[in-house]
Amino acid sequence: MKQYASLILLVSACHSSPPAATPSPGAALTVTAQIEQGKQLYVAKCAKCHGDAGQGVSDKGPAVVGKDAFPLKPRAGAKRDVDFHTAADVFAWATKQMPADDPASLSTGEYLAIFAFDLSANGVKLDHPLDGPTAQSITLHP
Ligand code: HEC
Repeated sequence: MKQYASLILLVSACHSSPPAATPSPGAALTVTAQIEQGKQLYVAKCAKCHGDAGQGVSDKGPAVVGKDAFPLKPRAGAKRDVDFHTAADVFAWATKQMPADDPASLSTGEYLAIFAFDLSANGVKLDHPLDGPTAQSITLHP
């Protein structure tokens, strides 16, 4: 998808630090660990409506991975009332509305992990764990 190609360029590549051998509790999450945590949370909390590979489930939830993910404008008949320009826009909306059957039930860290996983599944290379400013810098639709 055109947008994702430009988005990969915008998330500039500097080298991520190697994963810590023995992460201690409270230590900053590595990006690899964040994505892994996000994958597990996605499977547990989101996959039943958005598909095990984010492809969407008809009548349940739209795609969140691939060329149909995160359109700028809400889909026909959608509840969403905001445009998705950046990953932060998606994040802000979804943290309040998702999971649709239990909105805003996860912690900010859990949502960040899920989005780190989802963005990486969409080809975005994260150099450090996803946080608010990074999400703001990821342009989906200029
Ligand atoms: C019970 C089903 C269900 C579950 C569980 C669910 N979603 Fe959704 N999701 C939906 C539906 C339905 C929409 C479309 C909402 C609308 O009308 O705008 C949606 C929309 C979204 C969107 C916006 C996509 C777009 O194209 O507008 C994102 C992002 C999203 N969900 C993320 C998540 C995440 C992350 C989780 C897990 C924490 C999750 N969802 C769990 C049903 C679900």
